[in-house]
Amino acid sequence: MRLERKDLLGLRDISREEIQLILDTALPMKDIILRDIKKAPTLRGKALATVFYENSTRTRTSFEIAGKYLSADTVNLQVTSSSVQKGESLRDTIKTIEMMGFDVIAMRHSMSGTPQYVARNTNMRVINAGDGANEHPTQALLDMFTILEHKKTLDDLKVAIVGDILHSRVARSNIYGLSKYGCEVRVVGPSTLIPPEIERLGVKTYYNLDQAFKGVDVINVLRIQRERQQSALFPSLDEYADLYMVSSDRLQSAKDDVLVLHPGPMNRGIEVSSELADSSSMLVNEQVTNGVAVRMAILFLMMGGSRGEVAN
Ligand code: CP
Repeated sequence: MRLERKDLLGLRDISREEIQLILDTALPMKDIILRDIKKAPTLRGKALATVFYENSTRTRTSFEIAGKYLSADTVNLQVTSSSVQKGESLRDTIKTIEMMGFDVIAMRHSMSGTPQYVARNTNMRVINAGDGANEHPTQALLDMFTILEHKKTLDDLKVAIVGDILHSRVARSNIYGLSKYGCEVRVVGPSTLIPPEIERLGVKTYYNLDQAFKGVDVINVLRIQRERQQSALFPSLDEYADLYMVSSDRLQSAKDDVLVLHPGPMNRGIEVSSELADSSSMLVNEQVTNGVAVRMAILFLMMGGSRGEVAN
């Protein structure tokens, strides 16, 4: 099976079969990452540009190294030192990159819908690496891959997503992806950080951690995104931490083998305790490695590869 789409813009409009194809392909990609010689010739002659209008450590670097492990030529456009700072428009910037012969770009932008706009206006393949509060599909795919590795299935799990749902593209992509596997997705946090319309996506809303965590298989803790908050949406960080910081002693009502995920970067002592962050329940570091594997799989499939064809 091949990924029959030009772009990967979100998980809302992608089928369960396509998600499964990406997750299945990520498995042999992880083997490449874990061996001594981390190189496969699969994407030799292909070129990837990472174009990030917002800060990133994990996503941008993992796209770059994913391309390199598969022998693609990879270039990072440093937006902060580029001609964007001289006023060059997004459209002209993208056209300039296209004319250099790039095959695919991974892009992040603070404005929702930007990768979709770019995809309509370029022949390059476009991967959404996070757009505003809309979607972060590759994060959700690596979250799902991590859950699958531990639970051996994604079907019908109970998953709680904690914190800043309002601003979270990670939450939306996880909701879209997990719902396709019949998961019961719960969102929990202060009412000011949970938009009422989120229930239209089929999730259950909670305002209390102990109730939300009852019987859950997975807890995904979101970062408090202070950079996106125009007004104070909770009284203080201390009060937020008192009610919503996830720590080991808040996991009592969850299943014994509950997994705790965090997309990173973590605000220790605010949304997650340092003690839980460093415990064996927390999978944030595994998620980083899996992020490389999943992005290798996506690049491979988008360049025409098919399941079972992963070259060593
Ligand atoms: N999870 C995530 O998107 O991290 P970065 O902002 O570091 O890419």
